[in-house]
Amino acid sequence: MLNIDLRGKRAVVAGVADDAGFGFAIAKALAEAGASVSVATWPPALNIFLKLLERGKMDESRRLSNGELLSFDKIYPLDAVYDTYEDMPDDVRTNKRYAEVGDCSIDGMAQRIRADFGEKGLDILVHSLANGPEVKKPLLEVSRAGYLGAVSASAYSMISMVQRLGPLMREHGSFVSLTYMASERVIPGYGGGMSSAKAALESDTRTLAFEAGRTHGVRVNTISAGPLASRAASAIGIIEKMVEYVSQNAPLTSKLTAEEVGNVAAFLSSPLASGITGTTVYVDKGYHAMGMAVPPG
Ligand SMILES: NC(=O)c1ccc[n+]([C@@H]2O[C@H](COP(=O)([O-])OP(=O)(O)OC[C@H]3O[C@@H](n4cnc5c(N)ncnc54)[C@H](O)[C@@H]3O)[C@@H](O)[C@H]2O)c1
Repeated sequence: MLNIDLRGKRAVVAGVADDAGFGFAIAKALAEAGASVSVATWPPALNIFLKLLERGKMDESRRLSNGELLSFDKIYPLDAVYDTYEDMPDDVRTNKRYAEVGDCSIDGMAQRIRADFGEKGLDILVHSLANGPEVKKPLLEVSRAGYLGAVSASAYSMISMVQRLGPLMREHGSFVSLTYMASERVIPGYGGGMSSAKAALESDTRTLAFEAGRTHGVRVNTISAGPLASRAASAIGIIEKMVEYVSQNAPLTSKLTAEEVGNVAAFLSSPLASGITGTTVYVDKGYHAMGMAVPPG
């Protein structure tokens, strides 16, 4: 049988703070395939996440097919808008949520991974995070700071991770990020420069695949997922409508599940995908292929 076999592989999924989003489903799929999985969590969401875990609130969704509960090797604090500790302003460093976790920059996470697992201790990195401070504002109204904030948190963070974690990757390592079709087609309401950030993320996937492929021998891909009512997506304000619209108009009418995206991320991170890099893979029930809404009736 041809299986996704990630036994002996070590993965970090950045952007997990509950069990409702793609990151959690990806972590679970990687664990189902045998990988040991760590996650990285945004400091403002970290305590709530730890409490949910501690109190058993996620036990049902953590249940793996072998009956065990999904567990994380490490839970790293990560604020992906900072590359180094020096980049973190004083008011952030001293903020209660941040003071208790120390260096939660991307470099800080890389140092912790190196200390925990050694110089070449990583096989898989999944970037499953995004943030657009003005996501509810149309592009026509977005401020420079809001636009750059969206690109910084949602696209540059991936470049910074490949820069800092590429050297820690063992041979055949894999980077995967999550993007959305608003990068290439207009999705009214997906504002704040988030569409621009996703366009940058997809373009960078190709360039990083080339550069990091040549430098570190790793692969870089992105999954263009259909809409899912995760916590982040609910902040956009129209996610239910987006989900409904896709199920009415996509080739496949069943609603997209996070597990479907998790399975593709596990495949892309596995040796079965050793020939795939620099690619945007659609996991959206085929919606991207449509050129016209299905007429009613
Ligand atoms: N939900 C959708 O409809 C949809 C569709 C396509 C792509 N995506 C993408 O999937 C990825 C995961 O999002 P999701 O929808 O599963 O929601 P989610 O809420 O599960 O994940 C987003 C995570 O990003 C974290 N985050 C925000 N700012 C951060 C920062 N500065 N540093 C570190 N972490 C930060 C949040 O705490 C959260 O855990 C994102 O890239 C998103 O754009 C989502």
